[in-house]
Amino acid sequence: MCKKWNSSLKQGIFSPENDSLQPGSFFSLTPFLPVHLTGTKYSCGSGGCGACTVMVSRYDPKTKKIHHYPVTACLVPICSLHGAAVTTVEGVGSIKTRIHPVQERLAKCHGTQCGFCSPGMVMSIYTLLRNHPEPTPEQITEALGGNLCRCTGYRPIVESGKTFCAESTVCQMKGSGKCCMDQEEKSFTSRQEKMCTKLYNEDEFQPFDPTQEPIFPPELIRMAEDPNKRRLTFRGKRTTWITPVNLNDLLELKTSFPEAPIIMGNTAVGPSIKFRDEFHPVFISPLGLQELYFVDSTDDGVTIGAGYSLAQLNDALHFIVSEQPKEKTKTYHALLKHLRTLAGAQIRNMATLGGHVVSRPNYSDLNPILAAGNATINLISKEGKRQIPLDGRFLEKSPEANLKSEETVLSVYIPHSTQWHFVSGLRIAQRQENAFAIVNAGMSVKFEDGTDTIKELQMFYGSVGPTVVSASKTCQQLIGRKWNDQMLSDACRLVLDEIYIPPDAEGGMVEYRRTLIISLLFKFYLKVRRGLNKMDPHKFPDIPEKFVSALEDFPIETPQGIQMFQCVDPHQPPQDPVGHPVMHQSAIKHTTGEAVFVDDMPPISQELFLAVVTSTRAHAKIILIDTSAALALPGVVDVITAEDVPGDNSYQGEIFYAQNEVICVGQIVCTVAADTYAHAKEAAKKVRIVYEDLEPRIITIEQALEHNSFLSAEKKIEQGDVEQAFKYVDQIIEGKVHVEGQEHFYMETQTILAIPQEEDKEMVLHLGTQFQTHVQEYVAAALNIPRNRIACHTKRAGGAFGGKVSKPALLGAVSAVAAKKTGRPIRFILERGDDMLITAGRHPLLGKYKIGFMNNGVIKAADIEYYINGGCSPDDYHCLCCSALTQVMEFMVLRSENAYYIPNFRCRGRPCKTNLPSNTAFRGFGFPQGIVVGEAYITAVASQCDLTPEQVKEINMYKRTSRTAHKQTFNPEPLRRCWKECLEKSSFSARKLAAEEFNKKNYWKKRGLAAVPMKFTVGMPTAFYNQAAALVHIYLDGSVLVSHSGCELGQGLHTKMIQVASRELNIPESYIHLSETNTTTVSNATFTAGSMGADINGKAVQNACQILKARLEPVIRKNPRGTWEVWVTYKESISLSTTGYFKGYQTNMDWKKGEGNAFPYFVYGASCSEVEVDCLTGAHKLLRTDIFMDAAFSINPAVDIGQIEGAFVQGMGFYTIEELKYSPEGVLYSRGPDDYKIPTVTEIPEEFNVTLVHSQNPIAIYSSKGLGEAGMFLGSSVLFAIYDAMAAARRERGLTKTFTLSSPATPELIRMTCVDQFTDMVRLVRRAPC
Ligand SMILES: Cc1cc2nc3c(=O)[nH]c(=O)nc-3n(C[C@H](O)[C@H](O)[C@H](O)COP(=O)(O)OP(=O)(O)OC[C@H]3O[C@@H](n4cnc5c(N)ncnc54)[C@H](O)[C@@H]3O)c2cc1C
Ligand code: FES
Ligand code: FES
Repeated sequence: MCKKWNSSLKQGIFSPENDSLQPGSFFSLTPFLPVHLTGTKYSCGSGGCGACTVMVSRYDPKTKKIHHYPVTACLVPICSLHGAAVTTVEGVGSIKTRIHPVQERLAKCHGTQCGFCSPGMVMSIYTLLRNHPEPTPEQITEALGGNLCRCTGYRPIVESGKTFCAESTVCQMKGSGKCCMDQEEKSFTSRQEKMCTKLYNEDEFQPFDPTQEPIFPPELIRMAEDPNKRRLTFRGKRTTWITPVNLNDLLELKTSFPEAPIIMGNTAVGPSIKFRDEFHPVFISPLGLQELYFVDSTDDGVTIGAGYSLAQLNDALHFIVSEQPKEKTKTYHALLKHLRTLAGAQIRNMATLGGHVVSRPNYSDLNPILAAGNATINLISKEGKRQIPLDGRFLEKSPEANLKSEETVLSVYIPHSTQWHFVSGLRIAQRQENAFAIVNAGMSVKFEDGTDTIKELQMFYGSVGPTVVSASKTCQQLIGRKWNDQMLSDACRLVLDEIYIPPDAEGGMVEYRRTLIISLLFKFYLKVRRGLNKMDPHKFPDIPEKFVSALEDFPIETPQGIQMFQCVDPHQPPQDPVGHPVMHQSAIKHTTGEAVFVDDMPPISQELFLAVVTSTRAHAKIILIDTSAALALPGVVDVITAEDVPGDNSYQGEIFYAQNEVICVGQIVCTVAADTYAHAKEAAKKVRIVYEDLEPRIITIEQALEHNSFLSAEKKIEQGDVEQAFKYVDQIIEGKVHVEGQEHFYMETQTILAIPQEEDKEMVLHLGTQFQTHVQEYVAAALNIPRNRIACHTKRAGGAFGGKVSKPALLGAVSAVAAKKTGRPIRFILERGDDMLITAGRHPLLGKYKIGFMNNGVIKAADIEYYINGGCSPDDYHCLCCSALTQVMEFMVLRSENAYYIPNFRCRGRPCKTNLPSNTAFRGFGFPQGIVVGEAYITAVASQCDLTPEQVKEINMYKRTSRTAHKQTFNPEPLRRCWKECLEKSSFSARKLAAEEFNKKNYWKKRGLAAVPMKFTVGMPTAFYNQAAALVHIYLDGSVLVSHSGCELGQGLHTKMIQVASRELNIPESYIHLSETNTTTVSNATFTAGSMGADINGKAVQNACQILKARLEPVIRKNPRGTWEVWVTYKESISLSTTGYFKGYQTNMDWKKGEGNAFPYFVYGASCSEVEVDCLTGAHKLLRTDIFMDAAFSINPAVDIGQIEGAFVQGMGFYTIEELKYSPEGVLYSRGPDDYKIPTVTEIPEEFNVTLVHSQNPIAIYSSKGLGEAGMFLGSSVLFAIYDAMAAARRERGLTKTFTLSSPATPELIRMTCVDQFTDMVRLVRRAPC
């Protein structure tokens, strides 16, 4: 069960002769996991996503206890595992033996969609249970904080974890103690249909018995207790790893190798080796050395061993604060606050106190507090022991305050705080947990006893320079001053003067960071004043009541909520699964890690790995590509360039390998094929390319407009007479809205296995794609062979969200050319950074509007212009005579009116050509960007008319059967219902009043609410895009194999197709199998996108099944009492195999006239969100979201609710925290989870309610609706709720009612919009560097 690494890590196993490891390859456990163990996934390689989580267990001979903790395998040095047991997901449970309750419940609670994050989720919950068999809900949330999921929206994952809590907390509404089932009855007694709330049946769960877990290997206990332990040395070709046997040995080694790093958690050294090419010939790893693990508490303070992990530090501090009087524990409380949000649980269990203190990252969360708390560092070397202060000079890396190279940190001493002494830690990050601070601070003040006269003041700031910096001059000047408003004002001025952030500082956000410096100081000032008041209320006045809420950060709560859906008709046959919340077909395999993704496929004989060399210039001529140094490196087989493309290298405007010229940073110039990925990557760095920059270099939409640079012609729709209408309105407003782009951040990066065949130039590709036909097309063009020689296979994709519609074709062509040239199989796995750079994402938008309206809020005329940043190419898929870009632009224009009727309406859209990587399809195809413009002008109109945005929405919303601006007739009744129910059931008005009351009482925290209605579309405006095919075989044992043209991306498509086949053939689901999608069984398939996968493939599967059923009808009639197995017979000479076909919805759009029945039907919905913002930092907390989505009749409510919740959370991320950063030269800075923040479990609504609203949709299969994308836009209710809160803040400060709206509403944007004395001061005090 457990994989024991000790056996393979005996001293000397990596001898210089036999070590095939590369430099730095000691530095990740992931590549060492045997290939047949596919569970542990690799997604970022930087410890930031949790996909590779495994459990490490160690025996502590001192306490005689076994310590289990989660780690990210990608950062665990293999050699550090000597003596440890490692449990991967395979060790937890397997389909072949027995699945573990954690795996079972995650699957059955629908906590898995694409499944790529699922093994990591299992390991995080499992490890928690090993330590706490009955965890609290808070522990579950905390345990999952380091695991990213891009599909589910986390709610069901948390829910699966909560089933292990002592008392079931799953259905308890927060705080009320009321069961959601009671709620259900009350809410829906008046309605015709019965509503259900149970998406799974807890009674089906196997009980969890913690005594049944595998025991810790006794030989490891013997090893740990062995009194004759020896120093361990692992030698590689270029690096040596040494584990000292005791402290003396460590000191000896530090003397011999003073430059060698001490490897503890490896969370600082590991990323430096991997991403910054750091090299060390020797590593010393005292991990586990008893002398570094202790807590020594005295009357004055506590000494904590340097080896303590941050998680152990957390436990130790919790113990101390429970023992000591409050006044002594202020530093510990400050540390504990930051320890809760520092990274995720895995990193906190790996990173050590010593490593943290010594590595001194500029963003360090703990060092500023330790320094403010007057901590000292205890050092040891062969020369003896000494102490150095952990102060400003140490943090600023001043040489005389540093440790010497032969010294080791033994421990850190943290003194107790005292009575007239206050210590605080403050921080703000893009995301509440698992994100580096944008600015953090540690501050302390000591007063003369019994007074508020400053005796000692310390302020340390992180993330404002290359190191943590001390505002020592400011502090010095304030000594002797009283703690009052005048002192604060002077302190702000002084500190702004002392801490200089240059305009071109790394990380940008200069004005914001300067504002934070004084905003955090103000928070500290208030805290201290409150503290003084508590000590002597007569002498020290309290802070104003309105300021109290500024003191606390937002709490991290465990999400709760209810999901409601229509119950299945009681008359429906029990065997018929349609309408039931059936578990994802692969869910159990996801959670056991047995679901095979492309990278999990076993090595193929002779296979090569591919690494890319991409352009570093946005627009340049290629003068030279020198591959000689790369080719000379060991293991390198070839370098592939444009010259090697046998067919068309520039197919329909898409260039596979750059030739002569590059048109964006990130364009593939060449690839290196080598025997290992490490060799290929090393060689890729050695390829020398000489460029000559070309003009123009166009990066932004504004620059493109200046240069008249467009990728295609304008798309326009128009109704009424816009110009005329503007003449008769009461008011006209004009505005601009910027909506930034978004990275798909699918957890499985683009991965391709291209296998050239011996015969007939055939090429087989395995890849996760949404569009196999397109891959086939590009590969055929690049290789100059017919498409019938190219077979594409897609078992599943680890998330896609539009990012795997067109890009896999380009990457497929690139790999196929390499496979063709080398004649060997090619494994091409994009690193996260390369994936983000090369494949780009959602199109950024500049929207302009001119709106004419009456004073009562009725909008009479709207003139909208959209410009999107298309990047450098049209992102074409010629096979469908179209491009992703065109579709995005068309959809954006067609959907631009959203839910509102504006009699005179014009919308024009045009894609700009820039020197950025080509942006592409992304969930919602332009709707999530475009519609922000609409909601923005509604909000602006409301403000002008002194109405609420919801009133203006209501006034202008479609009310009866109407025609859209492109003249398509529709009935908005479900829209009205969703909107009404959303407002009523969420008690919108009452909560709005409560928020206003809250806002009156709180100056620095504001609440906002917003509701958004939605009219979304499914399918494509061109009929032939909507076609689909299926192939169904019935075998003679009665089992059925279904194939169809859709790809499984995690959206549950195959699950729904099994439900369809089961109903149509009237057989249990267990009889039906769906293996994969491939071009050899179903040809010329359209893309799986646009929310229509289940719609169109469902019809094709239905068609095939009905044909087969009709063929079997005579046999059934002959023997009506027979069984399926009996009817399915060879003897009747009936073909038991058939194709099914769906011609597609008959949509059309005439762009010349700007009209047509562009969409088969509409999906309606509404959501309402409530947030609280911290005006001083710009942080926000999502308190509650209610979604009402028109699902018509849901084929699978679990899948549909999962899509809605997942899309909502993805949308919420898009509108709030996800921010792509480019340099002015077009270089993407945000290339991994460290710099690009998708929501984690702490971002989702504290209360999250989703209701599927029933309606009719006879055109679609079983009257269902496609819901894959619609939830995305509903995330904008969070954006507008934030704007509502910001507007409240601005109103109170007497600022203008209207202000520019843009997306995302990042902490920076929120803080800088909530203008106050601090933002004013920053704008006034603009200091030049000394
Ligand atoms: C994904 C991720 C997220 C993170 N998020 C945050 C965050 O939000 N906030 C934050 O503050 N930090 C964050 N960090 C940084 C993390 O806190 C530090 O990397 C960590 O504390 C370093 O400890 P370590 O034991 O892993 O050090 P190692 O990487 O093992 O060593 C780091 C350095 O310390 C030296 N060293 C280690 N121990 C000793 C010793 N006893 N004596 C002398 N020298 C020693 C080594 O020589 C080396 O130079 C994050 C890191 C990662 C990977
Ligand atoms: S792959 Fe290890 S944390 Fe992302
Ligand atoms: S299920 Fe979590 S990333 Fe796909």
